[in-house]
Amino acid sequence: MAPTPQQPASAGGPVNGPAGHLPRFPAGFTFGAATAAYQIEGAHDEDGRAPSIWDTFCRQEGRVADGDSGDVACDHYHRYREDVGLLRELGVDSYRFSVAWPRVQPQGSGAVNPAGLDFYDRLVDELLAAGISPAATLYHWDLPQALEDRGGWRSRDTAHRFAEYADHVARRLGDRVPRWITLNEPFCTAFVGHAVGRHAPGTREGRPALAVAHHLLLGHGLAVAALRGTGAKEVGITLNPDHLLPATDSPADAAAVRRARTLHNDVWLDPLFAGRYPEHEAETWGPLADGSYRREGDLEVIGAPLDFAGVNYYRPLVMADAPHEEPDPHRRTAADIGVREVGMAGVRRTTMGWPVAPETFTDLLLDLDRRYPGLPPLVITENGSAEEDAVGEDGTVHDADRVAYLHDHLHALARAVDQGVDVRGYYLWSLLDNFEWGHGYRKRFGVVHVDYATQRRTPKDSYHWYRRLLADHRARTGQPPRSEG
Ligand code: FCB
Repeated sequence: MAPTPQQPASAGGPVNGPAGHLPRFPAGFTFGAATAAYQIEGAHDEDGRAPSIWDTFCRQEGRVADGDSGDVACDHYHRYREDVGLLRELGVDSYRFSVAWPRVQPQGSGAVNPAGLDFYDRLVDELLAAGISPAATLYHWDLPQALEDRGGWRSRDTAHRFAEYADHVARRLGDRVPRWITLNEPFCTAFVGHAVGRHAPGTREGRPALAVAHHLLLGHGLAVAALRGTGAKEVGITLNPDHLLPATDSPADAAAVRRARTLHNDVWLDPLFAGRYPEHEAETWGPLADGSYRREGDLEVIGAPLDFAGVNYYRPLVMADAPHEEPDPHRRTAADIGVREVGMAGVRRTTMGWPVAPETFTDLLLDLDRRYPGLPPLVITENGSAEEDAVGEDGTVHDADRVAYLHDHLHALARAVDQGVDVRGYYLWSLLDNFEWGHGYRKRFGVVHVDYATQRRTPKDSYHWYRRLLADHRARTGQPPRSEG
């Protein structure tokens, strides 16, 4: 029977196997956990850190659930030793964290703040002492507010400032950090930030949002050159390519998926890995995509070879055709592309409302592999789920839904690897419950529970499950404990 459009092509295997049956990965495959600066560090005004666009956004009424902010978050800035201890116990090979630009270079240009760099210096040394390989993301959404005041990513100059900042960080930490990620999910910065308006800076723009996307890519390319100049070992970028399914098999829904794929995926993947601007941009944005923000030679900068591509994956998106809310193309936002997300039938949802459909993880990876022959090896840089967690009377958190989610998604990943997709590693999101952007502290993604009133950390059942997986992988592959891979 031919799959219906909503049914993933690889459906059929027993993905929801018993949690006892651990997925298997080849020798050399590495495991980690991920976090991001603004979501965990706190210490928002300490040691010379200046505000980022997220500090500003959180202070605007109605932007973040419960009026929360990352002012304190998990207080990781002061508790990083304890947190590295949790990583060591977990047995990860690598830890993905992000560096806060407004800590290192508070005004986004000019003078570097040595105290800001010192924090990451201490963190990196602590990780190495625990046998954990550091993986640093340079931009996880916290643009210095001073740069936003000068146009932010709408301005081409910000791309150059980003490369300069990358150079400062790599010169200080590059002797000990083998893996660098330039940007995290530029889709969210460009479109959730500047077109949907749900993330900082929280605007709803048209052509400027497309300029933001281009300048992010340019900034990435310039930062790659800067990192290479410092002798950085492994350089990549983290994207969140979506697995997009049509709501029905109508031609209109197929076209909606094509436009959504342009917005979500092709804007990034085509220039980075296929040496072209997205094929369907005129169909998607009409006159907004006039390329006025591009210059000759940009594609070459953007397409500089990478050592890996980071993929964040959580859930599929089912898309239907929907009339434009704003008929005048010049007044549309860049997110107004005539599509509507519809629910996925017959699957569980996490507390984010995201459908749980692990088969689509395999499908996405196979699809990327097929579409982009120029893709470097992949690293899964985020995957995880937000669930209803509570510390029980026995003092622990029995997060069976998260265990099932991780189990099923890691099996789905192993299937893609078995079918020949070159994936080298997996980072779970997240080590700790943390500040989940517009949702504030309502959504918990951690394998370690955080009581925000006391900052007490409690490993959940999923932490123990992941620990067992890592130990099993090592025992089976003969991999030395916490190797660098
Ligand atoms: C990703 C972000 C990460 C986290 C997860 C749940 O989009 O990169 O910071 O919020 O989603």
